[in-house]
Amino acid sequence: MSGILSICYLIASVTFILGLKMLSSPLTARRGNLIAAAGMIIAIFGTIFLYEDAGKKLGNYPWIFSAIVIGIIIGTLTAKKVKMTAMPELVSFFNGMGGACASLISIVEFDYLFRAYRLLASGNFSDMVSFGHFLAIMAGTIIGSISFAGSMIAWGKLNGKIKDIEFKGQHLFNLIIFALVLTGAVITYNTNVRGVNIPFFLTLALALSYGVLFVLPIGGADMPVVISLLNSFTGVAAACGGFLYNNKAMLTGGILVGAAGTLLTVLMCRAMNRSLRNVLIGSFGSVAKAGASVRREKETYKEISLSDAAMVMAYAKKVLIVPGYGLAVAQAQHTCHELEKVLEEKGVQVKYAIHPVAGRMPGHMNVLLAEADVSYEKLLEMDDANEEFKTTDAVLILGANDVVNPAAKNDPSSPIYGMPVLDVELAKTIIVNKRSMNPGYAGIENELFFHPKTYMLFGDAKKVLQNLLLELKNV
Ligand code: TAP
Repeated sequence: MSGILSICYLIASVTFILGLKMLSSPLTARRGNLIAAAGMIIAIFGTIFLYEDAGKKLGNYPWIFSAIVIGIIIGTLTAKKVKMTAMPELVSFFNGMGGACASLISIVEFDYLFRAYRLLASGNFSDMVSFGHFLAIMAGTIIGSISFAGSMIAWGKLNGKIKDIEFKGQHLFNLIIFALVLTGAVITYNTNVRGVNIPFFLTLALALSYGVLFVLPIGGADMPVVISLLNSFTGVAAACGGFLYNNKAMLTGGILVGAAGTLLTVLMCRAMNRSLRNVLIGSFGSVAKAGASVRREKETYKEISLSDAAMVMAYAKKVLIVPGYGLAVAQAQHTCHELEKVLEEKGVQVKYAIHPVAGRMPGHMNVLLAEADVSYEKLLEMDDANEEFKTTDAVLILGANDVVNPAAKNDPSSPIYGMPVLDVELAKTIIVNKRSMNPGYAGIENELFFHPKTYMLFGDAKKVLQNLLLELKNV
């Protein structure tokens, strides 16, 4: 039996790796997700029916299957109902549940050892439990709890229920709490087995508090980076569970999640040209806001009417659309796809220029446009798009701001200096749709709006696109 179970775990591990690889392209992502899910089902049912300990099967089937059915119902309904813009908060919630599970596994293992040893022995916990075993329990408990509590705060921030809370000396206070968590772990290991539950559960409470306190001051728009970091924590905590139960599938899955989460965090920070430290303790955008109005007084921007904008695009050979956060907020992806089709009927070549951090989560624009059935071949990654701008007649920027800000290239004092951006100013004409002259996520002025080639087309992206469609019918 254990041989078959090992094969189940091996199959699951291979499907996780294959699935993850396939997630890297929109063409294969859906299939990759299904393959990894199939592997997970094999691992779960293998454990339920084939796992044996001293000849005893798992049992508890009514409990296990009731939990599985409830989980499937809640998970399916939530995933079906969620709007694309609310996806980061759903990911955060699910990640929090993963962290809680990983932590509970370690807590149950601790409780099992505590109950077993407190009746039999009277020495310290370290006399009964090997250091490796204790480390896996404690790391799983602490990291899983931080991930759970932090993810719940991130979830609350993203859905607007929790506000940023900052106070003087907060980072030092957080460091002290973290030091207390580590001290609690050391004390737990060196406490008499009869009373070891007290320092253990105090450490658990401190880890939960640390999870809350560490995410509280971070701005809502930085939450995707935090969620990705917490996601890697959940992976490590799950891997600790894999060590505890010698479960290879859990170990592989945990390590993959941990590594993928870490890489994604690093890539997101790189694409924003910010260090992780800056995301975690920096107050992004607040310095630059002050200078914004000074510039606005000195320079003027030009507006364009809907009919002129329609004319420019209808007579263009090539149009590149740059989607941004505003497109997602306006839910204008379907209307945008309509516009693309109408322009193509008029013989215009239309493509989309996708910046890696356009929007508020990795792949935000790709998922949004895929939802509206925009063909994957039309989506250009930043480097390819930057090659095409010089041969583009018109660029239509829809609710994007920071990702097209030339200050990233030519203003060393800008907070986004060094962040790779889309070279839209190479195109012949630039039309920018947004509702006002307000700044984007970074809170900084955008000199592109004052560029001689730029025309502002104010209004909600969806309404503007609908009106543009009407105008195009008359061209
Ligand atoms: P932003 O720089 O945030 O600009 C979005 C613009 O959309 C705003 O200037 C806003 O201007 C406009 N807007 C809002 N609602 C709109 C609506 N209904 N219709 C039309 N326009 C609307 O967005 P971006 O260019 O996509 O850049 C993304 C930013 O988020 C970057 O700074 C990036 O570093 C950051 N970020 C991204 C991620 C990931 S992974 N994607 C994670 C964390 C942070 P008005 O208010 O004037 O309309």
